[in-house]
Amino acid sequence: MTLQEEIARRRTFAVIAHPDAGKTTLTEKLLLFGGAIHVAGAVKSNKIKKGATSDFMEIERQRGISVATSVMGFEYEGCKINILDTPGHEDFAEDTYRTLTAVDSVIIVIDGAKGVESQTRKLMEVCRMRKTPVIVFINKLDRPCKDPFDLLDEVEKELHIRVRPLSFPISSGDTFKGVYNIYEHNLSLFTSDERQTADASTVEISDLASPELDRYIGERYATRLREDIELIEGVYDPFDRQPYLEGDLAPVFFGSAVNNFGVRELLECFLRIAPSPRPAPTETRLVEPQEEKMTGFVFKIHANMDPNHRNRIAFLKICSGMFERNKNYLHVRSGKQLKFSSPTAFMAEKKSVIDFAYPGDIVGLHDTGNFKIGDTFTEGEKLKFTGIPSFAPEQFRYIENADPLKFKQLAKGIDQLMDEGVAQLFTSSLNGRKIIGTVGALQFEVIEYRLAHEYGAACRWEPISIYKACWIESDNAAQLADFKRRKHTNMAVDKHGRDVYLADTSYALALAQENFKDIRFHFTSEF
Ligand code: G4P
Repeated sequence: MTLQEEIARRRTFAVIAHPDAGKTTLTEKLLLFGGAIHVAGAVKSNKIKKGATSDFMEIERQRGISVATSVMGFEYEGCKINILDTPGHEDFAEDTYRTLTAVDSVIIVIDGAKGVESQTRKLMEVCRMRKTPVIVFINKLDRPCKDPFDLLDEVEKELHIRVRPLSFPISSGDTFKGVYNIYEHNLSLFTSDERQTADASTVEISDLASPELDRYIGERYATRLREDIELIEGVYDPFDRQPYLEGDLAPVFFGSAVNNFGVRELLECFLRIAPSPRPAPTETRLVEPQEEKMTGFVFKIHANMDPNHRNRIAFLKICSGMFERNKNYLHVRSGKQLKFSSPTAFMAEKKSVIDFAYPGDIVGLHDTGNFKIGDTFTEGEKLKFTGIPSFAPEQFRYIENADPLKFKQLAKGIDQLMDEGVAQLFTSSLNGRKIIGTVGALQFEVIEYRLAHEYGAACRWEPISIYKACWIESDNAAQLADFKRRKHTNMAVDKHGRDVYLADTSYALALAQENFKDIRFHFTSEF
């Protein structure tokens, strides 16, 4: 197969959702279709249940699972599909954000009873920022759900994206009859005895006016469906792939993941419309996947589970060309040539050493502590991929050394954990103290636990009251200097030495934005 053909058949995406909406269940059903797993239950949910926050064994166990299921690759109908897993617990949202930098599209799962939830909103912001194409799957139709039109409106309003239903449910809960596939003009009937395994029975309905429809779902539901579909065709423009690819339009499917209902329709439509690997921006130019020379970037680093071996796995997303085992590549940040004798690919449950990988694929590289998130590999060109930002943390604590004899271990541990992207480090301009910023509170416990177990260091946390950290810059040097002088007690630098303003309250931040018009406040590290 040519490079071009290998690229065209690849689909690299993530399933994202608010916890409990059904991400794990849907992922598992997709894998079952692909034959990548054979029994339900093979994909362990990697969510850390609320209340388990001080159960470190649980955290370790979850880390183990999340390495194993980080990337699930499989073949389906000639396509090579790579599903990138994202952590279930919202305290690990930043991990999810970064994974989103390595996908070409996403499927968002929404619980039909709950509608759009907080985490869905945040994740969608990241997708919007990157113009990632999204497909929405509204799940749990076997339970009483909100009205489908209300759900469509909610998705449109709350996620700020135009929607276009490609399937439509007939009732929900106890009276759930099935889903009409607007795209294929057929009806999937829901019979509750098919729970969990079988494929839905599908009947072709070429003409909705046909009395056949009444026979299948009863007159009342048939009449309602005819009205609903007429309304949809009147209100929504016909589905157009271009705005979907540009991230402006989300096709919507309805179903029930646990019952394997509506999943095949979703997968088949996904394969048809979802993009193959897209060009990737760098600081200097756009890299096209079909370029002959290999390029790629590290979007995730995972520490070894075994504290005696401080090896880590760096996840490299191939952006162009063909990656080869034992070939020298330039690690752009250090300027060193490196080759990898045992790069791994992830196929569902197992990891295996591979000889080649293509754009869209994720390769696991052994790392002894030299790589950072965002690192670029090339065949010599000094490129730096962009679009792998850090996000403004929302929880802060001072970190102090609790064991004076282990100062070095602590410094090294903090440094490496920050490279892995576990949290962000800021140094206060006021007193030089180190501040750790995270997206979720659980991270502090993870850091403390890992510093002790992997680095033999002890830390202590002290409270600090900060609402948000944002990166600041300005072309108006005088105003910037004035701001930094006045806000001296709230200024810090990140680990690259860039100015960060630590706002005490949302009010203080709003006031600062109002009073210092020439200063740009950024909520991601890349601007
Ligand atoms: P997540 O990864 O998004 O957090 O969600 P997950 O798939 O773990 O699903 C959360 C719960 O919702 C699970 O139940 C799962 O069985 C259930 N679920 C998923 N899809 C459907 C659906 O279509 N209909 C219904 N009724 N339920 C669904 P649980 O009780 O938390 O776990 P389990 O013991 O059933 O595994």
